[in-house]
Amino acid sequence: MSFIKSRGLFPNTRMRRNRNDDFSRRLIKEVAITPNDLIYPMFVTEGSKCRDRIISMPGIDRLSVDIAIKEAKQLSSLGVPAIALFPVPSQNNRTPLGEEAFNPEGLMQVAIKKIKDAIPELGIITDIALDPYTNHGQDGVIDDKTGAILNDETIQALAKQSLSHANAGADIIAPSDMMDGRIGFIRKHLEESGYINTKIMAYSAKYASNYYGPFREAVGSAKNIKDGEKTTYQIDPSNTNEALHECALDLQEGADMIMIKPGMPYLDVLRRVKEEFKVPTFAYQVSGEYAMHVAAFENGWLNRDQVILESLLCFKRAGADGIFSYFAKEAAEIMNG
Ligand code: PBG
Repeated sequence: MSFIKSRGLFPNTRMRRNRNDDFSRRLIKEVAITPNDLIYPMFVTEGSKCRDRIISMPGIDRLSVDIAIKEAKQLSSLGVPAIALFPVPSQNNRTPLGEEAFNPEGLMQVAIKKIKDAIPELGIITDIALDPYTNHGQDGVIDDKTGAILNDETIQALAKQSLSHANAGADIIAPSDMMDGRIGFIRKHLEESGYINTKIMAYSAKYASNYYGPFREAVGSAKNIKDGEKTTYQIDPSNTNEALHECALDLQEGADMIMIKPGMPYLDVLRRVKEEFKVPTFAYQVSGEYAMHVAAFENGWLNRDQVILESLLCFKRAGADGIFSYFAKEAAEIMNG
């Protein structure tokens, strides 16, 4: 590298000079993380006054809508711009086709409406996928004869689900299902129905990851998924070029923002995507990453506050504009002192 030659080697150059003082360490910082970068995922459940523990995600609960509203108010006052809602409908609302996903009076639609009414300035991101609503736990409709996940039938349902969320007041709909062609199809339906400002955050590079285990326990789909596999629609963890191809397609189809998921084990993908497309890019520190961290904190093996902030900072450094994290509330509290 030529700049090394021109500036000379040790002792003309001492890298530790700039690191020697607190003020100069602050001056040379390249990235920082603030509450503006955070999105807090929340699990909503039926009933009222309900706070139901998720065993594999200590500190995260399934909340009935009344409690979710209180929590959302707290997030907003901490300066967190948006929450992401994930529904936990009762098992008897789950069917082979997942029709409950677009019930205008469904758990999710009611939750969106009530939270939006209570805290209009807080962005609401909603998950578009059928897995909490199907009794087989897959994100798509299954062909009875072959067992295949049917793409074109599934995206019909996703468009209905998207419209029902937009109608309830969702600000950003986030298809997380990895079906082909769904972004263009959903965009067309939103435009035709007048939802021109409803944003789409595409889970464009979503991998077939085992780090989603605790999430599947949280939404009650784990025991429904027979083989536990989503490999015919989510990306193989071996591949990065395929992730770039997915992002390119979703952007062409009308995505406003894209997402890489999981997070920390996939920061190389995040970096490549950001460098290639230079569009608003998000990453998801998923349930398994949360569980690993909390397990180490609870054993006293890692410093909780410091590691939470470092883990989130690393996403920013790798190129994320924002991060979905189950630590978002706690991190914002730490940042607010
Ligand atoms: C559902 C969905 C999943 C996650 C977000 N949306 C699980 C899956 O694809 O099986 C995972 C989130 C997490 O692990 O925190 N389509």
